[in-house]
Amino acid sequence: MASNEKMVSHTVSILAAEPKVLRTLVSLFAFDYALYTHSVQVSVLGTGLLLDAKTMPEGTVKRVAMGFLLHDIGKCRIPTEILRKPGMLTPWETRQMEKHPDYGAGLMQRHETIHAKALEIIRSHHEALDGGGYPRQLGADALSLESRICSVADVFDALTSHRAYKPALRAYDAIQKMMTHMTDKLDQDIVQHLIHQLGPSATRPV
Ligand SMILES: [Fe+2]
Ligand SMILES: [Fe+2]
Repeated sequence: MASNEKMVSHTVSILAAEPKVLRTLVSLFAFDYALYTHSVQVSVLGTGLLLDAKTMPEGTVKRVAMGFLLHDIGKCRIPTEILRKPGMLTPWETRQMEKHPDYGAGLMQRHETIHAKALEIIRSHHEALDGGGYPRQLGADALSLESRICSVADVFDALTSHRAYKPALRAYDAIQKMMTHMTDKLDQDIVQHLIHQLGPSATRPV
């Protein structure tokens, strides 16, 4: 099976095997469509990167990859006037928004089937290698491969998506930005694997 097909097939099989995850994702679809598409896109990219790393059996990848699908589920608890605010957030609003990893981990740890590594992805996807992320300011030593993968997939999808406050970057420009301005934050080995997965669109400025 081609690599892209494999990434999508894994995401679909997670959904088919876990009705609770599917229901949670459907409610996300109704709650905020942009958040839903972002979650699916991060999951497809993240699953491909995790498969590529070959650190765990494919059956475990499916369970851990739930963390990619549900990484932003905590945003359901953020007041909609903050979540959908078109302009810059105030410092107080930013602090509220930065609670979503803990909210998400709190919501999902009630699901007995969720894998510990999936929970960790939800809790740590905004941490950064230099310790400048949130909510715990964890540094490189404390960040798992799965959390680092989620951060790379999350940033790439955010940069290449249109938002009310910014246009979408092309894949090439997003990768350039990640390789030049985010070297302290993102694991550059994973960025290289992402380039490999994206193929020519990531390396040609057209
Ligand atoms: Fe997030
Ligand atoms: Fe995200």
